[in-house]
Amino acid sequence: MKLLSVVGTRPQFVKAAALSPVLGKKHDEILVNTGQHYDYELARAQFDALGLREPEYNLDVGSGTHARQTASMMVILEDAMLKEKPDLVVLYGDTNSTLAGALSASKLGIPLAHVESGPRQHDLRIPEEINRVIADRLSFLRFAPTGHTVENLRNEGITEGVHLTGDVMYDIFLKTRSKIEERSGILDQYGVSHGKYILMTLHRPHNSDNKTALQEVMNGVRASGERVLFPVHPRTLVNLERFEMMAELKRDSNISLVKPVDYLDMVTLMRNARIIVTDSGGVTREAYFCEVPSVSIEEVTPWPEVAEAGWSQVTGADADRIANALENFAPRGPRLPIFGDGDACGKIVDIISSLEDK
Ligand code: UD1
Repeated sequence: MKLLSVVGTRPQFVKAAALSPVLGKKHDEILVNTGQHYDYELARAQFDALGLREPEYNLDVGSGTHARQTASMMVILEDAMLKEKPDLVVLYGDTNSTLAGALSASKLGIPLAHVESGPRQHDLRIPEEINRVIADRLSFLRFAPTGHTVENLRNEGITEGVHLTGDVMYDIFLKTRSKIEERSGILDQYGVSHGKYILMTLHRPHNSDNKTALQEVMNGVRASGERVLFPVHPRTLVNLERFEMMAELKRDSNISLVKPVDYLDMVTLMRNARIIVTDSGGVTREAYFCEVPSVSIEEVTPWPEVAEAGWSQVTGADADRIANALENFAPRGPRLPIFGDGDACGKIVDIISSLEDK
């Protein structure tokens, strides 16, 4: 079969690095990078670290308002789809690149396969939630990573084409584990040692574009007095400057702002952290893979299974709750295989391949 896969942001490069090589063994895959993420640290550095192959199409869509960004992606994705005439379009996650791919393909009548179908935060003010709901509704194959994601789809009346496969992010984590061991130099580079620091990421618009939320999170981690390593997303950096919070942060010796790091360095930093503070769904899951507890600064996490397993505490952007979690939260339960057996990609490719017989 001829497949066309759409990527464009940092988490999608990670997911495609898991699935694309497995898909490529059985099918002809055209990889399209929308260019939604264009900074070296978010894009090219990830390709290099993950060994993701050069896409057939590198579009240059860049940033913009949601409508402008999504609309320009739709136009160029439509051109690529008309030219390539794929049998199936493969989409990942919940970004504007996912949404644009879903709309362009479905308007052309091309069936869609959605990898990471079903997570929900039950809040349509979150842009990713809008993207998830639309991509899931329009898809023909829905690859759900966990039991909860299957349940969320069922609650919306979606039962057809739903396949519980496990999480492709767990596959790539297992696959790259040996390389991660080799990256231990990153700890020296940042002057941190095993189990002796907090790792933090923050980039969701409701946290990073909101001065009060940003201040609450900073106050919460500052109160710990522990060393905090904070690879800053470009969006968050712009806002820290806009809200005039940089001077205060620079004075603060316990929070170190560093550039975003590539996937292998990031997982190395996660594995060695005492605890992780994040609003990223990907990092919450990866913390669990690494057997490191996490604090979710989301009001509602899209991955409640990690909290239910006793490995994450959900605090929202609330300084006192964050400080309390950093002081008292300790993981409780055994580590259940909630994200599958590490062969989500094999299952996805088998399901796609079975279409050929139909
Ligand atoms: C996007 C996704 C989010 C994903 C995240 C991972 C959407 C709606 N959001 O959020 O689901 O978890 O990527 O990082 O698709 N910017 C740069 N350099 C870049 C990219 C972005 O400076 O390479 C800045 C720009 O100021 C831009 C802002 O970040 O306006 C937002 O970028 P955007 O691509 O809209 O979303 P992210 O916040 O990165």
